Amino acid sequence: MRHPVVLGLQYGDEGKGKITDSLARQSSWVIRFNGGSNAGHTLWLNGKKLVTHSVPSGVLYTHVKNYIGAGCVIDPKSLENELKEIAQSGSALDKDRLKIDFRAHLTLPIHVALDAAREGGKKGIGTTRKGIGPTYSTKMDRVGIRVADLFDDSLEGKVAFLCDTYNALIVQQGLEESSTEENLEVAIRARDTFRDHVAWDATPFYDLAKDQKCVLEGAQGVLLDLDHGTYPFVTSSNTLAAAASAGTPFPMSRLGEVIGVAKVYMTRVGSGPFETEQDNEDGERIRAKGGEFGATTGRPRRVGWLNLDELKLAVRLSDCTQIVLTKADVLCDEPVVNVWADGKYTEFKGWTSVYKEGSKDTLSPELEAYVKHIEDYVGVPVMGLGTGPDRADFVWRKETPDFWA
Ligand code: IMP
Repeated sequence: MRHPVVLGLQYGDEGKGKITDSLARQSSWVIRFNGGSNAGHTLWLNGKKLVTHSVPSGVLYTHVKNYIGAGCVIDPKSLENELKEIAQSGSALDKDRLKIDFRAHLTLPIHVALDAAREGGKKGIGTTRKGIGPTYSTKMDRVGIRVADLFDDSLEGKVAFLCDTYNALIVQQGLEESSTEENLEVAIRARDTFRDHVAWDATPFYDLAKDQKCVLEGAQGVLLDLDHGTYPFVTSSNTLAAAASAGTPFPMSRLGEVIGVAKVYMTRVGSGPFETEQDNEDGERIRAKGGEFGATTGRPRRVGWLNLDELKLAVRLSDCTQIVLTKADVLCDEPVVNVWADGKYTEFKGWTSVYKEGSKDTLSPELEAYVKHIEDYVGVPVMGLGTGPDRADFVWRKETPDFWA
């Protein structure tokens, strides 16, 4: 059996949760392969709004197990709060339903302080200030703290070395250094809180992957990829499909369909190029209709028309086999919908309703024309569309494929 990968094709916030959720329902495992508390997924659990950051989206189903892969970084305080909220919603994640790879790195207070120090200076790029870049930096520098380190006698020395080495950068910015004691305290608390969740041996996955359905879930989007995105205005991990193997115990041969998710328009948070940005009334209207405010930071998202050249690039980079479009309802009643390709805009007649009059599963002719244009230009089928905020607001445009073929 091969397993589907779900990832964003734009700058994050594409609404991946809806399709992941639909696949999760049919799965045994949902596995996160990159990112950390910078991600924000808004989920509804037992009528309660839940914003998750590090926990995979399988949390909604009690039959689904969740795995935080080696490519992820974990902020222990943030994860502990998430687990509390999830438990309060009546779906506690016990040790069998949440596994954390022993190789994942920890985001400690010093990483958050480093992010703030960098962002406060001239080189800020508008990060989420969750300490993500510094956590991946210390990982690359081979002085980071892994989950495994929490259980080793060398922990105190490692945390002290990390703080001694990196505090200079914080002090340089005139900010107060992050003490070894505070970082150690957070690490020790993490050890006590997550002890039972640690996955020490990933080899069972090779067996599991033979007969249990898994979904590999990415965070952010391909255009924010550290290597292939709009550097330096990127996140600090790889977000494209290859990261699904690098960041988990799944070899490439076990990965199957790559489902790329894109909005029918675009948004971006933080700085960086945005060719089709509508910093005007159109953008403001769509932001309000689409509720385009960051789930993690609350920042208003920049809004623009869909850029098909970027979408095509993201599809190629991630070897995407099918696209799911989201938020088609948000553009309802727009008189005109623009799309950018080959250095110019093409104007489409807007749609007043997602569905054809009298139908619940056939798209309106205007929306269908827009979708067909996207599909033809990018060269990958648009399998389905998100049509509203609820879980059920989704329509398959083509016959539902077997995602685990
Ligand atoms: P960082 O990942 O916090 O270092 O931020 C780097 C860039 O990625 C900034 O432009 C952030 O706004 C953006 N970013 C990080 N995570 C997300 C996300 O989940 N959705 C959208 N943008 C994100």
